[in-house]
Amino acid sequence: MTTTSGPLLITGATLADGTRTDLYLAEGRLADPASAPAGVERLDADGLLALPGLVDPHTHLRQPGREDAETVASGTAAAARGGFTCVHAMANTTPVTDTAEAAEYVAALGEREGHCEVRVVGAVTKGLDGEELAELGMMADSAAGVRLFSDDGRCVGDSLLMRRALTYVKAFDGVIAQHSQDVSLAGPGACCHESEWSGRLGLPGWPSQAESIIIARDVQLAELTGSRIHVCHVSTAEGVDVIRWAKARGIRVTAEVTPHHLLLDTSLVAGYDTTFKVNPPLRTSEHLEAVREALADGTIDMVGTDHAPHARQDKDHPFDVALPGMLGLEQALAVVMEVMVGTGRMDWPTLVERMSTAPARLGQVPGQGRPLAAGGPANLVLVDPAARATVDASASRSRSRNNPYDGRDLPDPVVATFWKGRRTYAR
Ligand code: NCD
Ligand code: ZN
Repeated sequence: MTTTSGPLLITGATLADGTRTDLYLAEGRLADPASAPAGVERLDADGLLALPGLVDPHTHLRQPGREDAETVASGTAAAARGGFTCVHAMANTTPVTDTAEAAEYVAALGEREGHCEVRVVGAVTKGLDGEELAELGMMADSAAGVRLFSDDGRCVGDSLLMRRALTYVKAFDGVIAQHSQDVSLAGPGACCHESEWSGRLGLPGWPSQAESIIIARDVQLAELTGSRIHVCHVSTAEGVDVIRWAKARGIRVTAEVTPHHLLLDTSLVAGYDTTFKVNPPLRTSEHLEAVREALADGTIDMVGTDHAPHARQDKDHPFDVALPGMLGLEQALAVVMEVMVGTGRMDWPTLVERMSTAPARLGQVPGQGRPLAAGGPANLVLVDPAARATVDASASRSRSRNNPYDGRDLPDPVVATFWKGRRTYAR
């Protein structure tokens, strides 16, 4: 559901590799600019970068069940504002996306109301209860064509169940995406990183090992089953080390990091502002350095926003009681530019790989993450690499306001987003 636009000739854009080019958008695809008729609508992109539309492997859209916090329409509008042309909708909705019918329902909502492509992530276990496998095969065979499964928000704790899930999805080249948190070590009460800060603030913390212990188990189960594992929102140096070890062994593992774990550290919880309560928690600077380095060298394959909108009444509580999660779609590119590109750790082609190509490959989304060449789908974002602005949470397209970057000076890169040739966002 997005404004239809006619053919458009974008002139003088710069691609990620530095080449200057014109781009002709017609009938949802990129066509030869020489074929553009005289008098066609033009957009001068001098000084702007044209990148393939961003793909988020990890988005909470909250519909069905919590439309007060976010809907497919509002969440994908925020995605378009952030330069995304595809998001993967996580399964922890009400009801949970654990059947073919539920998956088809979310897919149809995406078709009807999405401002970008909505791919459905199915639950691994029924009701996310960690006890019995969900309808994995039927979700895969459904019209939603689910390939990615996750109990995100919860960790599949039982090793045998995890082994069965990995074995099951291997038959159709599916992937289990794990929220890695050993709840026997980091109980449900744990609400920040276990460090000097948690002690001082009197908040129950969870150690980084509660993440890396599960990653270590899961990569070994992936090796045992010959299946594929994806590690959600890696936040620790220990987690990175395990993934590096697994990759060196040839284990089929991919991993994502969130924008907030690249930029924000645990000292932000000192004011007990529940905007900064998130799972996994914000960590210390050594961990931030480790995930930055891993994203640069490819140990971490991609960025996943973990966009987690929450209504005010779920955040207006004491820190240990408030729901965890923060917004991420609208500032994701800005944060990656600030932390990775602006500091010289990453070039633009690598950013495209981490924010578009790799997540499209993970989700097996054929029309996304493709180079901007004639014949390909017209999914792209125009980026002003020099623009900056102060983030204003109240200006968000999301229904929620738990934006951890509110008031921060950051790049403000997204000039326009096009999905299937239609403008889904314009500044
Ligand atoms: C997520 C949510 O709110 O759904 N919360 C969060 O803190 N990240 C669940 C999750 O991804 O863990
Ligand atoms: Zn999670």
